[in-house]
Amino acid sequence: MIIGLEEPDDAGVYKISDEIALIQTVDFFTPVVDDPYWFGQIAAANALSDVYAMGGTPKLAMNLVAFPSKEMDIAILQDILKGGMDKLKEAGVILIGGHSVEDKELKYGLSVTGFVHPERVITKRGLKEGDLLILTKPIGTGIINTAIKGGIASEKTVIYVTKLMAELNRKASEIMLRFNVHACTDITGFGLIGHMEEMIYGTGLSIVINSKDVPVIAEARRYAEMGLVPAGTYKNMDFWKDRVKLEAKDELLLILFFDPQTSGGLLIASDRKDAYSLLEDLKKEGIEASIIGEVIKSKEEVVIIK
Ligand code: CO
Ligand code: CO
Ligand code: CO
Repeated sequence: MIIGLEEPDDAGVYKISDEIALIQTVDFFTPVVDDPYWFGQIAAANALSDVYAMGGTPKLAMNLVAFPSKEMDIAILQDILKGGMDKLKEAGVILIGGHSVEDKELKYGLSVTGFVHPERVITKRGLKEGDLLILTKPIGTGIINTAIKGGIASEKTVIYVTKLMAELNRKASEIMLRFNVHACTDITGFGLIGHMEEMIYGTGLSIVINSKDVPVIAEARRYAEMGLVPAGTYKNMDFWKDRVKLEAKDELLLILFFDPQTSGGLLIASDRKDAYSLLEDLKKEGIEASIIGEVIKSKEEVVIIK
């Protein structure tokens, strides 16, 4: 076993031979958008993301379904599964089975199996002093999803965010592997800062976020000001706030940087020498990537927001 429960990462990793290690992960949740076909795509992109975050290639998947068949039209489930299937095809992943149960609340997700060279596993724990941090998708999907549930989000924003969440982290992962990268994770429920805290815990280093460089989805700030903040944001804040230093005079940054993401981007700690070429290659592929901060030597393991 290379990665297990002692040091949990984005996925578990088990060495089969000197050439091959197996990656396993599972993820499922309740709908984040109204359209079942798009929800299926988002759930699949989200489940695959942990394999990409480890620097691996997903190969096999199984569906996990909880469905209220007495209250809901079966056509909804068919559309969800079609969305999941199309996303798997795009990723070159084969669906080999699944399991469904009757439940009051609809849930969908997948277990995913992938492969990686045992010496090329990228964990969340390898960052080094001087590394630059690259984020590959803008943040704010939690706030936008709250606005969608409240029927407030504009159609333009709904379409943009839906596509963003359904976007695979595959290209970003493939490009990252061409460079000297020390650590990587994908941004999901703990928000930008929560996932950063996981990366620096136990390293004796700190992370500096240059808040002006962090891409935030247009409208997310405005909705946050209106109080459209998901409950998860406050849970994340309670858990990690003591380990954050807000130097920028903008309290709303905490709401944005603790916002739980659905199928968020990769957060990559790149060697400083490689970071700009990596960023350039990501942008060439149309990925909305930015260098958002750096890793510094410190006495306390904290995230500093400048
Ligand atoms: Co993850
Ligand atoms: Co996960
Ligand atoms: Co079964």
